[in-house]
Amino acid sequence: MANVTVIGAQWGDEGKGKIVDWLASRADAVVRFQGGHNAGHTLVVGDKTYKLSLLPSGIVTGTLSIVGNGVVLDPWHLKAEVEKLEGQGVEINPDNFAIADNCPLILPIHRDLDGLRETAAGSGKIGTTGRGIGPAYEDKVGRRAIRVCDLAHLDHLEPQLDRLCAHHDALRAGFDQPPIDRERLLAELREIAPFVLQFAQPVWKRLKKVRKAGAKILFEGAQGVLLDIDHGTYPFVTSSNTVSGAAAAGSGLGPNATGFVLGIVKAYTTRVGSGPFPTELEDEVGKGIGERGHEFGTVTGRQRRVGWFDAVLVRQTCAISGVTGIALTKIDVLDGLDEVKVCTGYRLHGKIMDYFPSHAADQAAVEPIYETMPGWKESTAGARSYADLPANAVKYIQRVQELIETPVALVSTSPQREDTILMRDPFMD
Ligand code: GDP
Ligand code: IMO
Ligand code: MG
Repeated sequence: MANVTVIGAQWGDEGKGKIVDWLASRADAVVRFQGGHNAGHTLVVGDKTYKLSLLPSGIVTGTLSIVGNGVVLDPWHLKAEVEKLEGQGVEINPDNFAIADNCPLILPIHRDLDGLRETAAGSGKIGTTGRGIGPAYEDKVGRRAIRVCDLAHLDHLEPQLDRLCAHHDALRAGFDQPPIDRERLLAELREIAPFVLQFAQPVWKRLKKVRKAGAKILFEGAQGVLLDIDHGTYPFVTSSNTVSGAAAAGSGLGPNATGFVLGIVKAYTTRVGSGPFPTELEDEVGKGIGERGHEFGTVTGRQRRVGWFDAVLVRQTCAISGVTGIALTKIDVLDGLDEVKVCTGYRLHGKIMDYFPSHAADQAAVEPIYETMPGWKESTAGARSYADLPANAVKYIQRVQELIETPVALVSTSPQREDTILMRDPFMD
């Protein structure tokens, strides 16, 4: 099993970027397969911090990095992110970076629509990242998207623009917005096209070649399973499938390429944006964990909501996504607490539940049932061996593993790349 698929097993921000960066030096290619620049993956290497939203985290180690067809791509953001990373000394060229030519584009009209809808929804808003992700995916399945390959055929874009405008102009009128300025959109696409096209290719072909040579492929998920369009806390979700199964469709490789599914799991829970969150803490304990964990969104700077570890949710997301093993991150953030709580079940209208129900009203109504464990006063920060962990931290990890019915493969103890404990090598499995 040479390949590894990394996915978030909560509501995102579990530390996927750090773990992908750590694994990337041993991979031959890193592939993003869903989402867009709504992701925010932070990598800390020595005294340098890299913040990636669209580019695969493998780019920092110079590993071949690929944006698969399942991603929605904002070409202007792409240019800005490439330039920002180049400014930090990262080399990006067509040898180490490729974009699927069948990727749908995120256009300025998508970003506008995302914002207009959120504003109109008032307190019912999703709390999106405002980057046009939802509207771009809608246009993809509505068969009116403009794709990367269209950038090489802009002289023949009229029929597609007709379809796009017929849909969007009606929507825009409902928000008192003028129709799409077609000339301006075309001019903007013409300007950005050469930058994008230098990286564009049928990446399924490149990946086929890489795979034939026996190389290791690392799939990098964005968001988390609880934000999945099918399995998440609908409608408070993102607009793509974030489960491991999306890696195959979103890259152009078959499902047998997925390999070891590594679920990234934070030692507690966070969520950014609206929606149900059974174990949310709105007290000083939650505030303390949020401050120690620097829980502020990479993309929007919003404060993340914080809560205890929810074993019911993670058991469910691991099952749904076929997780082989997890990487438990940010255990150091729990250092110093007198006690730690873990949610082991829910109570819903007097009944005990061992899973998270599908209906939004039930999801909002479940009350967590907690198991309390003693905390640890010693520091786990920077530990690189299991033997360095305090006894109560080990007990916590073992209890988590038991409750989620999935083994722990890695433990992360700081933002730094090397502060990682390896228990089971996903590439060797
Ligand atoms: P992602 O979206 O899943 O890649 O996660 P983010 O990068 O948005 O958020 C995770 C944050 O926690 C980042 O700032 C990381 O640098 C940091 N981080 C990752 N692993 C650890 C860890 O084990 N301990 C601590 N203290 N911070 C970590
Ligand atoms: P990473 O990859 C956390 C959330 C938004 C909002 C919902 C829909 O860093 O883990 P969207 O803009 O996607 O339509 O917003 O999804 N969201 C994330 N939350 N981490 C992310 O990515 C997220 N990407 C989207 O906050 O609730
Ligand atoms: Mg993030």
